[in-house]
Amino acid sequence: MTKDAFPVVVLISGSGSNLQAMIDAQARGELPIEIRATISNDPSAPGLERARRAGIPAIAIDHKQFSSRESFDAALQAEVDRYAPELVVLAGFMRILTPEFVAHYTCRLINIHPSLLPKYRGLNTHQRAIDAGDAEHGTSVHFVTTELDGGPIVIQAHVPVLPADTAQALRQRVQDQEHLIYPLAVRWIAEGRLQCQGNRITLDGKELASPIRYGS
Ligand code: GAR
Repeated sequence: MTKDAFPVVVLISGSGSNLQAMIDAQARGELPIEIRATISNDPSAPGLERARRAGIPAIAIDHKQFSSRESFDAALQAEVDRYAPELVVLAGFMRILTPEFVAHYTCRLINIHPSLLPKYRGLNTHQRAIDAGDAEHGTSVHFVTTELDGGPIVIQAHVPVLPADTAQALRQRVQDQEHLIYPLAVRWIAEGRLQCQGNRITLDGKELASPIRYGS
């Protein structure tokens, strides 16, 4: 383990492109963190291989082997805590977490969601934005509270919805932005610039009245 780097555990369920963005930012010297472990609830998640390639412990805890959400989350929490992270990063972790798990990591649990929250909580956000005829869509980084996709928002990136967009094309445009704003938000936390107290967040000591808009 690297001395003095800010310890992080990343939870994934799938491709892990946001994990990769953090690995790459860290390798470029732009993200002063140590990813101590990556844990997936899906043993076949391609993101586990991304972690292994970067020399990061890659662990699968298959939620299907557990009889309840509570027992899975308890096992997950025990594994996460073995690595003593100061921040737990949800990067495409597609499980609803129990209130006990969320409470255990109050202000130490962060998520990226592919919509301009509070719009489109839950799934299929890209198709929903297209179906609604929205002119713009985007992605949000937020601290996690017990309200699904409802915690205080740190930063959002906006992208246009183009007339010929498919959900896949729109997702790609959104993910390109995710790979910029998620490492940035984690960096602010690692540097102690971004802090959270309950539903209140501050950047450089100033309370955020509204989410930061990336790129403007
Ligand atoms: C990301 O686009 C993230 O916003 C989304 O899953 C994708 C994971 O991609 N998360 C959610 O929908 C959470 N509700 P990745 O595995 O390539 O990072």
